[in-house]
Amino acid sequence: MSLILFSLPALEAMAGDIRRGCGATAGEYEMRHFPDGETYVRVLSDVAGAEVAVLWQLHQPDSTVLPLLMLVNTLKDLGAKRVGLVAPYLAYMRQDKRFHAGEGISQRYFARLLSQQVDWLVTVDPHLHRISALSEVYTIPALAMTAVEPMAGWIRTHVTNPVVIGPDGESEQWAASVAKAAGCPCEVLTKERFGDRDVKVSLPHVDNYRGHTPVLVDDIISTGKTMIQAAQHLMDAGLSAPVCIGVHGIFAAGAQQEMAAAGLKVVTCDSIADHTNAIALGPLLARGMKEILQ
Ligand code: R5P
Repeated sequence: MSLILFSLPALEAMAGDIRRGCGATAGEYEMRHFPDGETYVRVLSDVAGAEVAVLWQLHQPDSTVLPLLMLVNTLKDLGAKRVGLVAPYLAYMRQDKRFHAGEGISQRYFARLLSQQVDWLVTVDPHLHRISALSEVYTIPALAMTAVEPMAGWIRTHVTNPVVIGPDGESEQWAASVAKAAGCPCEVLTKERFGDRDVKVSLPHVDNYRGHTPVLVDDIISTGKTMIQAAQHLMDAGLSAPVCIGVHGIFAAGAQQEMAAAGLKVVTCDSIADHTNAIALGPLLARGMKEILQ
């Protein structure tokens, strides 16, 4: 059976890696907006009876998800056997509980919406904090790949004498895996968050790591405050400016400028297209697609 991959134009390089990795052909479509902002979709490939995957960027989901759903529904209307979603970055994972009375638990609602619309999901390092598996909120087959190996590979080839540092307790198990795969030591800091842009990071035990290059790794870089605070403490303690690696560079307004002003080198995986992308996730996603389609 044919496997056809449709892709957001911004992710075309990654789409090429995925197509090569799992033997898919490129789906062709047109998408534009009517003058009133509504989405126009026209699928040009024959998808009748085909396994179809859509590679989409869910960064800024409130504007990107509706066009995705228009494409998915068009593909189903045209007879695709199944339509799966390859989302290198899975949005709406952080509001995973009711922190204050009356709040919505957007993680659940978003998962419900996607589960109703697509037949399967492959993603990379979703923010699993108070839930431990996507299956707790997604009712479709949902596979979470991890960027541990690609990140470790980048560290091995680009950083001299690295020490991987997790900027907070949440990152501990994950930072340890990256360090193990990169063959270097690991240190984890503790973090307290007082507000969206107010984060305090504890001093680490740095004495063992003088002469090492600190590599801060986190799943998400949003405001950059977590990285900046952690880096500042490392530098105050006499370590060199760290390399900051994020799987998903969301980059809230001003984040990159603030990180640059703090003297940080920032590297991201290519889950969200950006000039900081240096670690390709396409081959990993191709493996995930093959696994979920078996
Ligand atoms: C938090 O739970 C995540 O793992 C990241 O540490 C967080 O999203 C980073 O956010 P920011 O860049 O705004 O400090």
